[in-house]
Amino acid sequence: MVVTVDGPAGVGKSTVARALAAALGIPYLDTGAFYRALTLAVQRAGADSTDGEAVLQVARASRLDYAGGAMLLDGEVVTDAVRAAEVGALVSVVSAFPEVRRVVVQQQRDWVSRHGGRAVVEGRDIGTVVFPEAPVKVYLIADAAERARRRAGDAEAAGLKVADIEHQLRARDHLDSTREASPLRPAEDAVVIDTTALPVEQVVALILGLVAEATD
Ligand code: DC
Repeated sequence: MVVTVDGPAGVGKSTVARALAAALGIPYLDTGAFYRALTLAVQRAGADSTDGEAVLQVARASRLDYAGGAMLLDGEVVTDAVRAAEVGALVSVVSAFPEVRRVVVQQQRDWVSRHGGRAVVEGRDIGTVVFPEAPVKVYLIADAAERARRRAGDAEAAGLKVADIEHQLRARDHLDSTREASPLRPAEDAVVIDTTALPVEQVVALILGLVAEATD
């Protein structure tokens, strides 16, 4: 089964999705890392990130894979490199092109097929576009200030003040949720969970309950 975990930046998706995958004994896929790796490839190619055709060419020429928690770009481990602030600043631009998304989404679906069709898949459009038939969909939300506090320890946010991180998160959420192609929004059949005041274990327990119901 596929469990989809969507929501805005810094809401705790990765932590929750990883713990959930471990509890269920199925693979975990970080789809944001695919868009980040593509952004890195665009930067390395010296391509113009605002030129959809140029980004599409890079997307078609890039092999994106995720193995053992590591993001691979053409076979090279780029897990840390994709967390760089320069990548974070451009990823919303690169990921907004519909044709580019089609290429990346196909790679994500292929990945899940290669893993036996069972995975916890984390992103922005997983429940709405990538796996609309998934039997369990959750959409996590949390206050922006709390999300900024959680992000403060991330590499991308290193050295920034919490207020600046919050500003960046809000800007990225705005871009992600107002783009035309697969905007960030909950699927109609997603269960929305506010994680502002909930510890990770409780969020995971809630979702495990949903999985149990779905497999009854
Ligand atoms: O989850 P993240 O912060 O690593 O995601 C980085 C960016 O990638 C996010 O701002 C929007 C984009 N993204 C997307 O458009 N669709 C997804 N399924 C996952 C991420």
